[in-house]
Amino acid sequence: MVRERKEKKSTIFLIGFMGSGKSTLGPILANTIGYQFIDLDVRIEQEQRRKISEIFAQQGEKAFREIEQTMLSAVIKEPKTIISLGGGTITSSTVLEMLKKHGILIYLKSDPEHIYQRLRTKSDRPMLRDENGSLLDEEELKKKISVLLESRKHFYEEADMIIHTDGQRIGVTVDELVKKLSHLID
Ligand code: S3P
Repeated sequence: MVRERKEKKSTIFLIGFMGSGKSTLGPILANTIGYQFIDLDVRIEQEQRRKISEIFAQQGEKAFREIEQTMLSAVIKEPKTIISLGGGTITSSTVLEMLKKHGILIYLKSDPEHIYQRLRTKSDRPMLRDENGSLLDEEELKKKISVLLESRKHFYEEADMIIHTDGQRIGVTVDELVKKLSHLID
């Protein structure tokens, strides 16, 4: 009897809202499974020689999304790699389908309250500012997080794996992922 063999993949994409832990968990998971780690935001800043907040301030969100997609296309072919994406990278069906074909998508799921707690002291997220680029107060920030999360949820939930990270130690999440990934990757 010939058994059908599932094609194994060697690219893992970490997706999820800002502050969900992609950039923290990514390098630890990569180190554990012997993959390299790429943080898409970091690559963009290196290549552009400016901060993401500067790209938004100088050229706006649309231009940032174009830069982001170009960078994604450049790194996507790297073998044995975990790529941490920005919170908004997969908010297009075309990008989502392309990533699903190419690799394994892991959604680090966190609820709005936990996200708020992690982002309330940060000022480097242009998507969490008002239309004039000013910081939001507590109530406005909470509202913005829940509205944005709600509008993106259906993209995130297309992931191959959904991992709830709130209240869980990072080592436990890594162990859980290593087990789940063992049959799926090279
Ligand atoms: C964004 C998330 C950020 C960064 C940019 C836009 C978003 O990345 O790409 O500020 O639209 O959610 P993180 O999710 O790593 O914070």
